Amino acid sequence: MIKDKMLKAINEQINEEYASAYIYLSMSAFFESVNLQGFAQWMRVQVREETAHGDKFFKHIVERGGRVALKAIPEPAFEWKSPLDVFQATQKHEQQITACIHKLMDLAHAEKDYAAIGLLQWFVDEQVEEEAHAEEIVQKLTMMGDAKHAIYMLDRELGARGK
Ligand code: FEO
Repeated sequence: MIKDKMLKAINEQINEEYASAYIYLSMSAFFESVNLQGFAQWMRVQVREETAHGDKFFKHIVERGGRVALKAIPEPAFEWKSPLDVFQATQKHEQQITACIHKLMDLAHAEKDYAAIGLLQWFVDEQVEEEAHAEEIVQKLTMMGDAKHAIYMLDRELGARGK
């Protein structure tokens, strides 16, 4: 059975994951509004990934006899200056999520919660990927500057995600 401290912390992380999904859904809507459907598609796949992350923590709590307690999801940002602005926000957000996962891992070690440590190792590795994806796109967009043709090409490339 999961102990109270860990249960509370994982419930908070469930909220972070679904809140992340909501942020990326808003980013997807932004890209749709500026006719960058490939970027929008990339974000929609990201939404699915975040929901799956939330589901993974949800399942862990249920399997260990805990009770999932869902919290309110904050309203996400609505406007961004450019695709680069969106991906810089994405990168910053993923860095924050990594910090949350590392904090959870510290707690799991302090509590000697070996089951949670196992689950969290998956998330530690996942965050390395999450940050790398955002970083790569930030670098590409920085290189492109205002070159519309290059952004159009990247839109096509990102649109292939999840298809
Ligand atoms: Fe669930 Fe993007 O971290």
